[in-house]
Amino acid sequence: MADSTKNATLIFDNKTVELPILAPSVGPEVIDIRKLYAQGDVFTYDPGFTSTASCESEITFIDGDKGELLHRGYPIDQLAEKSHFLEVCFLLLYGELPSSEQLEDFEDRVTHHTMLHEQMMNFFRGFRRDAHPMAVMTGVVGAMSAFYHDSTDVSDPWQREVASIRLIAKMPTIAAMAYKYSVGQPVVYPRNDLDYSSNFLRMCFAVPAEDYVVDPILSRAMDRIFTLHADHEQNASTSTVRLAGSSGANPFACIAAGIACLWGPAHGGANQACLEMLREIGTVDRIPEYIARAKDKNDPFRLMGFGHRVYKNFDPRATVMKKSADEVLDLMGIENNDTLKVAKELERIALEDPYFAEKKLYPNVDFYSGIILDAMGFPTSMFTPIFAVSRTVGWIAQWKEMIADPVQKIGRPRQLYTGPTKRDYVNVENR
Ligand code: SDX
Repeated sequence: MADSTKNATLIFDNKTVELPILAPSVGPEVIDIRKLYAQGDVFTYDPGFTSTASCESEITFIDGDKGELLHRGYPIDQLAEKSHFLEVCFLLLYGELPSSEQLEDFEDRVTHHTMLHEQMMNFFRGFRRDAHPMAVMTGVVGAMSAFYHDSTDVSDPWQREVASIRLIAKMPTIAAMAYKYSVGQPVVYPRNDLDYSSNFLRMCFAVPAEDYVVDPILSRAMDRIFTLHADHEQNASTSTVRLAGSSGANPFACIAAGIACLWGPAHGGANQACLEMLREIGTVDRIPEYIARAKDKNDPFRLMGFGHRVYKNFDPRATVMKKSADEVLDLMGIENNDTLKVAKELERIALEDPYFAEKKLYPNVDFYSGIILDAMGFPTSMFTPIFAVSRTVGWIAQWKEMIADPVQKIGRPRQLYTGPTKRDYVNVENR
């Protein structure tokens, strides 16, 4: 628990309330308001939690002004360049980079949990072929709580560990199965001789009619995308998982709730919406029209992939993603990618525009990711499921931290009520 060496004094209506100020290891200090209602008979009001810390965490820190993202203290650009996704999973879950023996054991445990209970295939068949894969994933992951009863007791640390490994291991299989179902192809089972990202690519793109050899360029790019999306402090979907977990719901139900929240276009759904926007713009000469719409208060249109609640500088993940987009398209021999051309020109024009500069709106993680995924052969409907595959480790790490937190209790926000005060029922004949 963070220490407090000083107080904030709140004085109003002849009341004085002393509130401890808690010191972080890095970032803003926080005013501990837990006793405010008892001592001051008032609530705080912060829709959207723009100024509110919902928990204490040791996992990820974002410096929005510097455009810095740390996972257990390690900068994301160093992890993206030098590490790989399963090693980052270990770091997020257990707090330290693994030894070679620890990493080998962790990768072996994940590899041997990638298969799905065969009877779960029936759930996929219950969906229409044109169901969005995020709808399928929300349903199938929630249904895991009906199949893996030996890892649903959240009070048992061993069951929490087994559920964590099962979810990290099976999410790529579920996402790939949702994709195969949507294109009418037979599912491809995972193989234990392939690494995590290669396994996912093969499950998505292999067909019984011919062998599929994973291109190491694509596998490395896929792994980097997984690494870049793994965790991000208390974003909307992680907060959803924490709130669901605070009631004691089982881990599969909590992750299904996180998947549902991530789907929104303001959050993880932005990568799909961004590529669709770039395609709608089509050519660089139409960019000014869309910049004008984004600035028009009367137009609900926003530049998808732009802006962020925390980053008021470049999203460091977007910087890595932009570099990776250039590399992947170049290595794949894709030269004139019009979408990438529009994206780069849109970024250049927007960043020179006072509207975006004043509001500190920069490209976020979703701005370039879709261009890479599109070049790799994924339909836009698979972009957010891929985000969900990666973010599962972040959700799980934060869920485990929440359960182990000694001050944790069920999340139950209060409200500012402005509805009708007490009044008596009126019979219909008198209305
Ligand atoms: C993710 O929280 C996380 O960490 C999320 C995430 C993660 O890893 O978990 O990083 C992943 O969700 C990234 C964000 C993806 N979403 C988008 O790209 C959708 C487009 N962006 C926005 O809708 C918006 O920027 C948000 C939702 C990301 C952030 O919204 P905020 O913090 O609530 O900011 P806001 O809506 O109050 O905007 C502030 C101002 C407003 O203008 P004013 O009312 O003050 O005049 O900036 C404007 C907004 O109109 N604005 C935009 C804009 N984003 C904000 N104007 C045009 N285009 C945009 N994209």
